[in-house]
This record gives sequence, C-alpha cells and structure tokens, in this order.
Amino acid sequence: MAPAAGPALQVRDLHVSFPTSRGPARVVRGLDLAVDPGETLAVVGESGSGKSVSMLAVLGLLPASATVTGSATLAGREVLGASEQDLRSLRGPGVGMVFQDPMVSLNPVLTVRRQLLEGLRAHAGRDGARRGKDALLARARQLLDEVGLPDPDRALRAYPHQLSGGQRQRVMIAIALAHDPAVLVADEATTALDVTVQAQILGLVRRLQDEHGTAVVWITHDLGVVAGIADRVAVMYSGRVVETGTTDALFAAPTHPYTRGLLASLPDIDDPATGAARDDLTAMPGLPPDPVDPPAGCAFAPRCPVAHPDCVGQPQQLREVAPGHEAATRCPVPAKTPEPQEVARG
Ligand SMILES: Nc1ncnc2c1ncn2[C@@H]1O[C@H](COP(=O)(O)OP(=O)(O)OP(=O)(O)O)[C@@H](O)[C@H]1O
Ligand SMILES: [Mg+2]
Repeated sequence: MAPAAGPALQVRDLHVSFPTSRGPARVVRGLDLAVDPGETLAVVGESGSGKSVSMLAVLGLLPASATVTGSATLAGREVLGASEQDLRSLRGPGVGMVFQDPMVSLNPVLTVRRQLLEGLRAHAGRDGARRGKDALLARARQLLDEVGLPDPDRALRAYPHQLSGGQRQRVMIAIALAHDPAVLVADEATTALDVTVQAQILGLVRRLQDEHGTAVVWITHDLGVVAGIADRVAVMYSGRVVETGTTDALFAAPTHPYTRGLLASLPDIDDPATGAARDDLTAMPGLPPDPVDPPAGCAFAPRCPVAHPDCVGQPQQLREVAPGHEAATRCPVPAKTPEPQEVARG
C-alpha cells in the first residue's frame, strides 16, 4: 500500500469503559496516539493500563458491552463506529494484528493453508476472485517464505499444534501481512518466545516494514525490545499517555515520574540474583488506580515520590519538554538519566 500523507493511524481522545457492579470502569481515558507510515511506536505501561483495550477498540474487536468514544483514523478514514462490513474491509488492507499467543488466534482444527487462504480470499475482492485459487496459494507460499519459514509447503499442510511456537508466530505474522496492511499492531507478540526467536521475529518485522512502509504499533512490557525496535515510545498510565517521545530522548531523559520509575524498576540483567526478567514492570511500589473511581488529578500522584499538592487536584496535560518529547507532568526535565537510587529517593 502506498504510504498515505499524514499518520497511518491516528487516535484522538479515545475513551473506553466497561460496565461493572460498582459503575463504569473507565479503562481508557482520553488516549491520543499517532504513528506514521514506516514508523514503529512502542506502547508501554504496566498491566491494566489499557494498552490492549485501546488497540482492540481501534480494531472494533471489543465486546458489545464496551462503551467507546473518540476518534481513530486509518489513513484518514474513521474506524470508530464504522459498520461491521466497513471494518472487515478496513481490517484487511488497513491493519494486521499479531497477538501474544497464536494458539488463541489460530484455529486449531484448520490447516495453515486453509487459514491463510481464507484470510487472503476474504479480502481479495473481485480482483482475487478473478486471479483464482492457484494465485492465492502461490501468494500464501510466498508469504510463508517471506516470514522465514524454511519449508512453506510443509507449513501449509500443518495444523497449528504441529508447529513450534516461533513457527506459529511467523504464521500469524504472515496472516497479518497478507494484505500489505498500512498498520501492524503487535500485542506482546514475542513475549512467549525465547530470545533467539524473538530477535528473529523483530528483525523480520523490521525488514518487512522497511520494504512495505508499514506503520507498527508494538505493545510490550519489555523495555529491551523497545530500545531495540521503536522509533518512538508512548508510555501509558491509567488509560492515558503520560509521556511520549523518540526512543532516544525518552531513555536519555525520562521526565514523568512514572516513566522514571518504570525505567528504574528494570532489574539488572547482569545480576544473577535478579535473573534476566527484563519485563518485570510490576516492581514499582504501589498499585494503579481503580478505574471505577480514578483520581481527579494526576492518576499517578498517589504513588508519586515527588507529587506536589497541585498534582492531586488537577490532571496534568501533555506538554512539550523538548522538541518531539512530551510529558504530562510539572516536573522539570532531568539533566541526565537518573540512577535508580535517585528515583527511589524522589
Ligand atoms: N472485556 C472486558 N470487560 C471488562 N473489563 C475489561 C475487559 N477487557 C479489559 N478489561 C479491563 O480493562 C483494563 C485494561 O486492560 P488491558 O487489557 O487493556 O490492559 P493492558 O495494559 O493490555 O495490560 P497487560 O499488560 O496485562 O496486557 C483492565 O483493568 C481490564 O481488567
Ligand atoms: Mg494487554
């Protein structure tokens, strides 16, 4: 797909809530995001911050019980509130998805060939129908080859359980890329894989992205992955972006106390006592806010080591702290990357 002028995906003031017995749980509360063609945006934030829900909302994949408001455009076309038929036609060429566990998304009783062909056929339209089955099969084989499966014919004949985890993930990526989507959303797509396979998949996505100009939204807990692949980062807290900037700027001068805590909570991966669990964002003290009753002011204030009385009363808006770097805090930009003990002291 030719790169569109403007962002491939733009999300504005997205709100999502779910009904609960205590009232609506407001799990996404005014999310703004944009990702350009060819760009990789990493979305990070601890469990429950609304990363998956916001992308599922954009894709129209939330249960009917969810209330969704705001705007999300794919190459300029609004997708929120679009009909099921429009969404189906957009999801193919517009956006591909890869989730953490391919066993959930792949159908266990259908061969890879059947699933890949079904996907290709569903979105091929009149053009594809004219080209016929042989052409679709050739395209399926080519896709499996492109994602680095050594024996595409064997993979086509296989059922998902006959493939390794890494192979299944590659099949999912092939299905997601079947229509050269303008946007690829990867939600913890490599978390279940060992580091070698993970590195291969990341390299593969980067190569395909360079060739096709795909915009990538990469949701992850793994800041090592962020550092390795992302052009920009959006840090989510309690359903909002609290800091965003280029990966270099954000890692060099994390400004929001939450981002600083997030980076400081990384265990030392060289330390055998802490192991190599680089994704342990839950190490930060305190709990995220209750989405049924979120704080009126900055949602991080109750956990913040440097909260000011003003933070408790008023929500903080994103403001530019350096060119291309914004943070929703009144804290000044740190002069240098803080050492973990500086953050702990506040
Ligand atoms: N279908 C649903 N019904 C009700 N609540 C939901 C539903 N899906 C998600 N939630 C709630 O929405 C909030 C945000 O969930 P979400 O899955 O987006 O978190 P996340 O940031 O992706 O976390 P993780 O890192 O654990 O994947 C959570 O509190 C979750 O319990
Ligand atoms: Mg999630």
